[in-house]
Amino acid sequence: MKQILIEGGHILRGEIKVSGAKNSAVALVPASLLSDEVITIDNIPNISDIDALNDILTYLGAKVTREKEMMRIDATGISNRKIPEQISKKLRASYYFMGALLGKYRHVEMYFPGGCAIGTRPINLHLKAFELLGATIEEKDNLFIIHADRLKGNHIYFDFPSVGATINVLLAACKAEGKTVLENAAKEPEIVSVATFLNNMGAKITGAGTSTITIHGVQKLGRCFMEVIPDRIEAGTYIIAGALVGDKLRITNLIPEHIEALLSKLKEMHCPLKIGEDYVEISASNDIKATNIKTQGYPGFPTDLQQPITTLLTQAHGKSVLEETIYENRFQNVPYLNNMKADITIDNRKIYVKGPTKLSGQVVKATDLRAGACLILAGLKAEGKTVVTEVEHVLRGYENIIEKLENVGAKITLEEI
Ligand code: EPU
Repeated sequence: MKQILIEGGHILRGEIKVSGAKNSAVALVPASLLSDEVITIDNIPNISDIDALNDILTYLGAKVTREKEMMRIDATGISNRKIPEQISKKLRASYYFMGALLGKYRHVEMYFPGGCAIGTRPINLHLKAFELLGATIEEKDNLFIIHADRLKGNHIYFDFPSVGATINVLLAACKAEGKTVLENAAKEPEIVSVATFLNNMGAKITGAGTSTITIHGVQKLGRCFMEVIPDRIEAGTYIIAGALVGDKLRITNLIPEHIEALLSKLKEMHCPLKIGEDYVEISASNDIKATNIKTQGYPGFPTDLQQPITTLLTQAHGKSVLEETIYENRFQNVPYLNNMKADITIDNRKIYVKGPTKLSGQVVKATDLRAGACLILAGLKAEGKTVVTEVEHVLRGYENIIEKLENVGAKITLEEI
């Protein structure tokens, strides 16, 4: 088990460079196996979720090489075997093997995916879309057997714009016969990046980034090179760190329009910030104002920054209201923040945060990835020492978080216990 120790109150100065986006990379890596040639992806983050996908690819017989941020995937000789439960459940994104293997081989056998325990997280929309493309689905004891004699394009409407289901439809439909139209699709930058990747291989996808996506199936996909987009959630997390304890902390290698919702909230709160073409410079202030936030799909405020920004709301003057609309159980960070002397009440899908409160160091638990990020941020601000336990969750999604924070002046260490 791993834990992070933080001595709070140190000012952060200098530069933090944002890595490749987890939620984009975790889709591109399984998508690679759709190609009949070798794929190269650059700017792959060094996080354990990528290692887990690598294990699945290797298990299937792909040849994967990694050199720094570059990953080469040769999936030409793979055998479409059943993916065992221990590796399927290591992460949420294993579900992208469903769309990719169905697209390529018309057959998949794998178990229900894993991921952070932040709600029920069903995959009914993915499965319904596969059925509309002509697949049959058998489910027994968490094992899914998805099979199609023929995959045929169709009109698919989502009840909810799910990120995962949208990407899975792209993966399956790009090699289906004929045209698929997907309505009420998710619009996240990660969707655009998967569509670009597949188009670079030879797919015919238009409309990614809007709620209607059209896919004309093709028979073969070829070689391509792709660079993973910057991680907007990692960028947002470090920007919030700057708003808490920064002195002109510069977060670089980001795309400001991907974090528009966060930046406009920070402006509304009166956080001193400067927005450049590919960076944000931010400082802490004692005069930040409370605000109201509601999580939504892109371009709304991202649920993945909801827990990190809660730490900042504890330092704002007044009462903030934060509403979580995507997941039903994403406030597990709150009792720990309250142990650190925050003043937050939970009311169903909303929290009320009264500020400012002086945070004090405590032993707290990272119940999930973004809860862990929230508590690390709280530890940077708090008086005294904070220990964040079970940080394996955090290491799944933040590349070199210790080094990145240490380099700008944080007193933070990782301990194995
Ligand atoms: N949903 C359904 N049925 C489905 C699919 C989704 O009811 O078939 C519901 C979910 O239960 C959830 C909501 O829709 O309440 C959102 O699900 P979505 O499918 O959009 O999310 P996801 O694909 O499971 C990805 C990211 C999440 C991120 C969400 C929303 C990956 C691997 N995960 O999850 O990332 O929160 O989109 O932006 O890309 C994280 O990085 O911390 C994280 C949880």
